[in-house]
Amino acid sequence: MVETLGGAESIAPFFSPRSVAIIGASSKQKKIGYVIAKNFIESFAGKLFLINPSAQQILSHKCYPNISSIPESVDLAVIAVPAKSVKEVLEECGEKGVRTAVVISSGFKESGKDGAKMEEELVSVSRKYHIRMMGPNCMGVFNSTTMVDTLFIPRYRLKRPPQGKIAFISQSGASGIAFLDWAAGERIGISKFASYGNAADVDEADLLEFLATDEETKVIAMYLEGIKEGRKFAKIAREVTKEKPVIVLKTGVTDSGAKAALSHTGSLSGTDEIFNAVVKQTGMIRVYDWEEMFDIARALAYQPAARDNRVAVITNGGGAGVMIADELEKHGMALARFSEETTSKLKEKFPPHVTLSNPMDLGGDADNERFREAIGAVIDDDSVDSLILTCIPHTPAIDLESFVDMVVDTKGKNNKPMIVCLPGGRVSLEVRELFEENGIPTYPTPARAALALSALVRYGRLKNGS
Ligand code: ACO
Repeated sequence: MVETLGGAESIAPFFSPRSVAIIGASSKQKKIGYVIAKNFIESFAGKLFLINPSAQQILSHKCYPNISSIPESVDLAVIAVPAKSVKEVLEECGEKGVRTAVVISSGFKESGKDGAKMEEELVSVSRKYHIRMMGPNCMGVFNSTTMVDTLFIPRYRLKRPPQGKIAFISQSGASGIAFLDWAAGERIGISKFASYGNAADVDEADLLEFLATDEETKVIAMYLEGIKEGRKFAKIAREVTKEKPVIVLKTGVTDSGAKAALSHTGSLSGTDEIFNAVVKQTGMIRVYDWEEMFDIARALAYQPAARDNRVAVITNGGGAGVMIADELEKHGMALARFSEETTSKLKEKFPPHVTLSNPMDLGGDADNERFREAIGAVIDDDSVDSLILTCIPHTPAIDLESFVDMVVDTKGKNNKPMIVCLPGGRVSLEVRELFEENGIPTYPTPARAALALSALVRYGRLKNGS
């Protein structure tokens, strides 16, 4: 038997095909084959072929009865027909010369012994014809640039996120959807997404290897239930983390979770101890829920890694400063000791009630100018590696509109990362969005801000080899 073609180049057509065939396209609005066809018709710029044995047209688009009748070559086949027909359809794809296929259909390994046997047959077909197959039992692929979009959730229910630098790969379709919905709601950009389901052929390691080479992706986030081939995954992950950060959310860590993973994607979870050892060995960053993953991903996507762990905290609310100090210590970071030059410079400019040690409490009467002076001084201080700016935006002296511009102007100075913490409700939310749109990760609580910064410190250490 011939092995499948491996390597990043065999994965690229999933994300950037020139032509796509949707097998099982339907004109019935509630069907998965309808939603996928509609996605492609609405926004895919390449060639599109819809396949349905009885329809002449779907959404005013010509239909073909089978893949063999398409007069041109097809880079990617998206298969959404019942499980029992998938093998035959995949064979036809092989005969046609299609080398990349997403199998959305469920009813394979995750459903028991018979399904597992059917899945093995799909793998045999994919090997015979050198087809890279994603799935079965998956949601497939979303690429915010080419607008390949096999997600079968209608766009009015799941807005697609804008273009950006975070790639997300997920064994689970539902976890993927939750993450994308969150990203879309917060206007956080995504480069690529893949839900690879049962990983019968294409697995997490293949996708990781591809994304390492992808110029649009700056950080890779993964949701895993199990790892298909531990050694292959660890080897690739170790290489990839040298290029870009990899965040991993691994579930199925309890007996109950492991059983659930087996019936969800047919995954064998392995022990948590082994996984922790893999995380340590490879330099990935492990998180424990979606919020952590999302918080860390946007910090790593938009801010540079920290040189070391000495953090400056600037605030106009003493309590928030204390909370951040606690959180920094919990995550192995330290409050920087400002240089003599920094404190004497600021002492001349600020009223006596301003606390010039770290956390630097500018006082409830601090205006934009006081913040500007403080930020400028600590960013130029060699004893500072990163900055958490905590602002209670409700105080009267702050001019919110120009506050955002003032902070954004300092972004990237001396290549030091900056994280903003803006506690509070509605007023804070609007300002947080403005910061995010300008590439400054912003969090509502000290704990979340410190966690995000800790990832920049950890990644910086990995890069420096320390
Ligand atoms: N070639 C071309 N078209 C075909 C073929 C074929 N061989 N066989 C059937 N079709 C057509 C059908 O005629 C139908 O078109 P129509 O609506 O015009 O009649 C269309 O393809 C769909 O076939 P149906 O038999 O109607 O199947 P249905 O749409 O009900 O279900 C599906 C197919 C969606 C693939 C289903 O079997 C399935 O697997 N659903 C679950 C999918 C899922 O949850 N995936 C994983 C999610 S991610 C996760 O959580 C891990």
